[in-house]
Amino acid sequence: MKTRWYKDAVIYQIYPRSFCDGNGDGIGDIKGIISKLDYIKSLGVDAVWLSPVYKSPNDDNGYDISDYRDIMDEFGTLDDWKEMIDGMHDRGIRLIMDLVVNHTSDEHAWFVESRNKDSEYRDYYIWRKGRGKNGKKPPNNWTSNFVGPAWEYDEQSGEWYLHLFSKKQPDLNWENPKVRQEVADICNYWFDLGVDGFRCDVITYISKKDGLPNGRLKFPLIGDENYIVGPNYHKYIHELNERSFSKYDSMTVGESIGITPDNAFEAIDESVGELDTVFSFDHMGVDFKLNVLPAKFNLAKYKKILDRWQQLPKTCQPTIFLENHDQPRCLPRFVGDYGDKRELAGKALATSILFMRSTPYIYQGQEIGMTNCAFKQEDYKDIMSVNALNTIKKILPPLLPYARKVLLKRARDHARTPMQWTAGKNAGFSTAQPWMLVNPNYKEINVEDSERRGDSLLNFYRKALKYRKGNDVVINGDFRLIYPKSKDIFAYVREYDGKRLFVIVNFKNKQVNFKLPKDLNFDKCELALSNYADAPKKLQSMKLREYEAIVYEL
Ligand code: GLC
Ligand code: CA
Repeated sequence: MKTRWYKDAVIYQIYPRSFCDGNGDGIGDIKGIISKLDYIKSLGVDAVWLSPVYKSPNDDNGYDISDYRDIMDEFGTLDDWKEMIDGMHDRGIRLIMDLVVNHTSDEHAWFVESRNKDSEYRDYYIWRKGRGKNGKKPPNNWTSNFVGPAWEYDEQSGEWYLHLFSKKQPDLNWENPKVRQEVADICNYWFDLGVDGFRCDVITYISKKDGLPNGRLKFPLIGDENYIVGPNYHKYIHELNERSFSKYDSMTVGESIGITPDNAFEAIDESVGELDTVFSFDHMGVDFKLNVLPAKFNLAKYKKILDRWQQLPKTCQPTIFLENHDQPRCLPRFVGDYGDKRELAGKALATSILFMRSTPYIYQGQEIGMTNCAFKQEDYKDIMSVNALNTIKKILPPLLPYARKVLLKRARDHARTPMQWTAGKNAGFSTAQPWMLVNPNYKEINVEDSERRGDSLLNFYRKALKYRKGNDVVINGDFRLIYPKSKDIFAYVREYDGKRLFVIVNFKNKQVNFKLPKDLNFDKCELALSNYADAPKKLQSMKLREYEAIVYEL
C-alpha cells in the first residue's frame, strides 16, 4: 500500500566515504553514520539517501558493485548496517538505498563468469564483435561518460564489452529477462531487510537502441541518443515496479537524464506505476555549457526550468536539489561572489527551494554551507577528474592549464571532501589522515561552530524544515513565479485552499528593488521566516538587502 509519504518529506543525502569515520582508518563508514544519527534527526529530515555501501573494489567509490547483497569491508558489516537502519527507523527516519544496476563491477561474479563465451552469464552483459580487420576496432563509436571509448577488448574471448562508465563498470544487458529478474530480487532482498526505497543510478541508460548504432559525435563525445530513455526503458521499469516497488510502501527516485517536463507524465505520474520521482539535471546545467565548461549563471533561465516542473499535474511529484555527490557545491555557484555573506547566501538558496512543490534533497555539508575546495592537481581523487587530466596530458598537453581551471569549477571532488564536524584535527571527520583532502576552511565552517550560533545556516535549515513540515500549502499548493524574467529576484506564490505563501529571495550580493506586484491582493499578511532578524513585518514594495530572503503567509 502506497502512502506517498515522500510528498511531505525532506531527504538528506549521505556520501558514506566522506561523512564520518567510526574506526579511525581515514575512511567514512557505517559506524560513523550511526554516531551521527541524532544529528541527522535534529535537522528535521524525514529520510536519508545513502550512496552505495555494497561490496565494491571502489573504482568509482561504490558505484561499481561486486556483491549487491553485502556491505563493503571499508564501511563495515551487514550487522552494522542493520544497526544503522534500526537506529534510523527508531528515530522516524526512512532509508533510501542507492540502486546501481545499469552496470556492475567487473569483479562481480556474473562478469567474471561472463568473460567465458560459453557461460550462461555471457548474456548478462553486452558483448560484441569488433569492427575492421580482425575485429580490433570497437563495435561502435560510443564514448564512456568517464572519457575514452565505451568498449573494452577482452583478449580471452576476442570480443568487446560495453561500459558507459569506467572499464571496471560493464553495462548489464537488460534485454536478458534473467538480468531483470535478478534486479527485482535484489530490490526485494533489501526491502525485506527494511529499506524504504531506492535512488536509481543512471536508470534511464538501461535500454540501448537495437543494433547499438553509432552516435552523433558531439562534445564531450557521448553518443547518448542511443541509450538515454531507450526503446524498452518504460517496459523494464514498469516490470520492476510490478515485481518489487509496488509491493512495499516505497519511494523511488531515478537519476533520470532524458526525462523532461515534456515526457515526465509518462515516467512518474501516479497512474503509470514506474518510478515515483526523478532527478532532472537541466537546472544544474545553467552555469555550465555542455555540462562541463563554466558559463555565467542566469537566474531567469534557471527559474524557467524549475517552473516547468512545478506546473506538472499534482500527480507528478517534482524533486529539487542544489547539490549531490556529483556536483560542485552550490556556494558560490548560484549566488556569485558572496564575500563575507556566505551564510546569508546559503539561507537565501535554502529558502528558494524549500517551499516549492517538491521533495527537496539536502546534501551533506550543504546545511553548514561547505564550499568548493582549491584543489591542486594531485588532490583529485575522482576517477572522472583523474581520467580527464590524464587524457588531456596525453593528447592535448597545452590544454592542461585550462582543464585545471575547469576542474576547479566542475570537479565532482568538491562535494566529496570530508564532512566538517569540528575545528579540530581533520575537521573531526577522522582521527587518522582522511582518504581525501579536508577543505582547509574547516576551522571556520564546521558543525560544532554552527551549533553554537542561533543564527547559523544550520539552524536556519532546521527552522525552515520545521515550518515546512505538514504545511499543506507547501505540499499541495499551486506555484506561480513572480517576475519570472528578473535576473536578481526569485519570488513565487504558493496557494492552496485559500491560503497563500509568498516567497521572495534576492539572489544577489547587492541591494535590489522589489515592487509589489499589482495583481497580488491580500488583507492579512504574516511574516513566517526570514534570514535578516529585522525583516519587514508586512509584504510591501521594498529594497531587498543583500541575499535577503523572506517568507510571508498571505
Ligand atoms: C551516477 C552516480 C555517479 C556515478 C555514475 C556511474 O551518475 O551519481 O556518481 O559515477 O552514476 O555509476
Ligand atoms: Ca573507517
